[in-house]
Amino acid sequence: MSNIHVRIRDVGRYVGEEVTLRGWLYNKRSSGKLQFLLVRDGTGIIQTVVSKADVSPEAFGSAETVTQESSLIVRGVVREERRAPGGYELLATDVHPVQIARDYPITPKEHGVDFLLGNRHLWLRSSRQHAILTIRAEVIRASRGFLDENGFVVVDAPILTPASVEGTTTLFEVEYFDQKAYLSQSGQLYMEAACMALGRVYSFGPTFRAEKSKTRRHLTEFWMLEPEAAFFDQEDNMRLQEDLVSHIVKTVLERRVSELQVLERDTDRLAKVSPPFPRLSYDEAVATLRELGSEITWGEDLGGRDETLLSERFEKPVFVYGYPAMVKPFYMKRNPDRPEVVLNADLLAPEGYGEIIGGSQREDDLETLERGLAEHGLSAEAYEWYLDLRRYGSVPHSGFGMGIERMVAWLCGVEHVRETIPFPRMLYRMYP
Ligand code: 4AD
Ligand code: MG
Repeated sequence: MSNIHVRIRDVGRYVGEEVTLRGWLYNKRSSGKLQFLLVRDGTGIIQTVVSKADVSPEAFGSAETVTQESSLIVRGVVREERRAPGGYELLATDVHPVQIARDYPITPKEHGVDFLLGNRHLWLRSSRQHAILTIRAEVIRASRGFLDENGFVVVDAPILTPASVEGTTTLFEVEYFDQKAYLSQSGQLYMEAACMALGRVYSFGPTFRAEKSKTRRHLTEFWMLEPEAAFFDQEDNMRLQEDLVSHIVKTVLERRVSELQVLERDTDRLAKVSPPFPRLSYDEAVATLRELGSEITWGEDLGGRDETLLSERFEKPVFVYGYPAMVKPFYMKRNPDRPEVVLNADLLAPEGYGEIIGGSQREDDLETLERGLAEHGLSAEAYEWYLDLRRYGSVPHSGFGMGIERMVAWLCGVEHVRETIPFPRMLYRMYP
């Protein structure tokens, strides 16, 4: 008797053959002499038909005994079955429980989100979470693949840092022997150093913000992709973002069809994403928002609701460029023709998702940058190394940060970023 261990996604290669599958019981239904076991193994779900007439009494007893999320090994013959999810089913010849799960807390009934988050370690097993995490992995693979192919070198940024990048109000402070350190808010400043060594670079890693806001877009720990390039202006920067985002969307549409189906994602809307993306100046954005009833006045940052209002009006992601310098960080380059605004852009995802990317050209002039630090109340001392980059061969350069969770939330059509990271960290949640 053959005893090939097969993963469920590969069963199509074994039609008519006997194979062994190892996994967990997702669900089950019975009708007298037949047991229908839905078995999942991480690569897929397959219905296993256990017929009393075809298996030993022990095997049939095992099929009766296994409960939701019990681990098990099933042997059987693969059969094509168009109506079955995945297109195949298994006619069991044997069933072996590995461990019987008692009272699995997440049942097919509806649960509240607090309960599910408290059981995140188990919630990951549900088909919806499986689909989201698979798409997340695809987004990461596609992002890195695109940059690797386009001459960007991955450079890892430190997590323990001596100073802020994105303002001092969202820093997580940690004890570092007899000093203070902060968890990185962004790898950007290090990527600026690295691009002067390697030309085009990117980092991909966890970043931290002590965000006191409890919104559907904020985590305290999230993952950011941060490209940075020398001899690159804000125009080049926006073009890179269009190409990157379009590539990610296209790849997910091509490679993650079944996951998008599980999520019931309207893919027609994603199919419209291709360069160029519309561009709206900050001034135009404020005028439009005021027409739409927002209270925003010139000089204020866009609020979450403003981003939703604006991005609902576009089919593709939209750039909002040229923000007032006073609401943006110290490192953004001033527009030489209009010094009250900076050469930056936020990219807002459509369907109301809001900002997925923040980027800018960087201030490359030493004195202007020193003034910027002072205006933001930051002491130049902690940034001496960063100022060196303007002392020794400074060049125009630009970069951006793409938040993976927000990108995944948009692609998956998921309301809240908490479902787009395996173990979310939020204002009131650190467990599990
Ligand atoms: O706009 P942000 O703050 O930009 C930076 O950190 C730059 N230093 C990046 C760079 O130029 N290298 O953050 C960039 C992106 C946002 O557009 C958003 O997608 C995501 O990071 N992000 C968050 N995602 C989840 N939770 C939060 N609290 C986030 N804060 C930012
Ligand atoms: Mg931003």
